[in-house]
This record gives sequence, C-alpha cells and structure tokens, in this order.
Amino acid sequence: MASTIVAFELGGREVEVMVKPMTTLQSALRDQLGFTATKEGCRQGGCGSCTVLVNDEPMLSCLLPVEDVAGQRVTTLESLTPTQGLHPLQQAFLDANAFQCGYCTPGMTMLAQALLDHNPAPDRGDITQALTGNICRCTGYGPIVRAIEVAAQAMHAGEEGQPR
Ligand code: FES
Ligand code: FES
Repeated sequence: MASTIVAFELGGREVEVMVKPMTTLQSALRDQLGFTATKEGCRQGGCGSCTVLVNDEPMLSCLLPVEDVAGQRVTTLESLTPTQGLHPLQQAFLDANAFQCGYCTPGMTMLAQALLDHNPAPDRGDITQALTGNICRCTGYGPIVRAIEVAAQAMHAGEEGQPR
C-alpha cells in the first residue's frame, strides 16, 4: 500500500513522517524520529511502557496509528526533560530509587505527568489507580507511588511560588 506523510507536533516542533498504513506512533517515534525514550514492551497494550501524551492525555503509542495524531500535540519523555537538570518527576524517581532496569520508567513518568495535570494533589489511592495499566517487572510499586507523591508536592510548591 502507498505510504503517506503524517504531520504532527512533537515537543513543540512540527514533524513529518512518511509511513505505511497502520504504522504505530510508537514505531514512528522510535524508528523514524529517533525518540527512543518511548519504550517498546509488549506492543499489545498490556504494559504501558509506550505511554505518551496526546493533547495532554495519556495514550498507548503501540496501539495508536500515527495517522490518528495528524495535527495533534504529542509529548514524550524527551519533551518533558528540561534542557538542564531533571523534571521534578524524574528527580523524585531518582531520589526514591523508583527504578531498577528503568524500562518502565518513561511510561510511568508520562502517566504520572498526565495524572498531575488533572489532579495536582493525588492521594495514594489516586496514584495506584492511575498506574493500573503500567507494569513494572522489577522495582515494585511502593517506590514509584512514593516518587509520584513527592513530585506532586514539589510541583505544587513550585506553582505556589510562581508570580500570578
Ligand atoms: S508496548 Fe504499548 S502497552 Fe506495552
Ligand atoms: S524498573 Fe524494571 S520494569 Fe520497572
């Protein structure tokens, strides 16, 4: 089948990819654009390692045809990471030892960002519920939940310090 060009916004920049029909966003990000922070776990929607934000909503990029994000705003961990230092979520994951192999971490981080966008002060139950679809095979969820709690507090405190 013929390839088509799909244009979308990635981390504030317009990008274009030439893809065959049903190419996933995950594949376009990793294989064509070199955005490899988005991980490739099960490729079946079962692990969450490929989670990205589309218009600030968490989506599984392994299930999403890239044509579906034409004209949309896609955010990956590369876009979340500041040019210097770490995002509060990244810092909190580091401080809480919330990863071992780290393969699940980008997806966890993107999901946590979406949660905090909607609910800046989630309780432990909110966080646990939000993480339901994201699998960590080696760390256990306690440190991950704690990291998100700490990041939420840090981000909340930062916002309160901002001039209005
Ligand atoms: S790689 Fe997408 S859910 Fe596992
Ligand atoms: S840190 Fe290894 S899968 Fe989560």
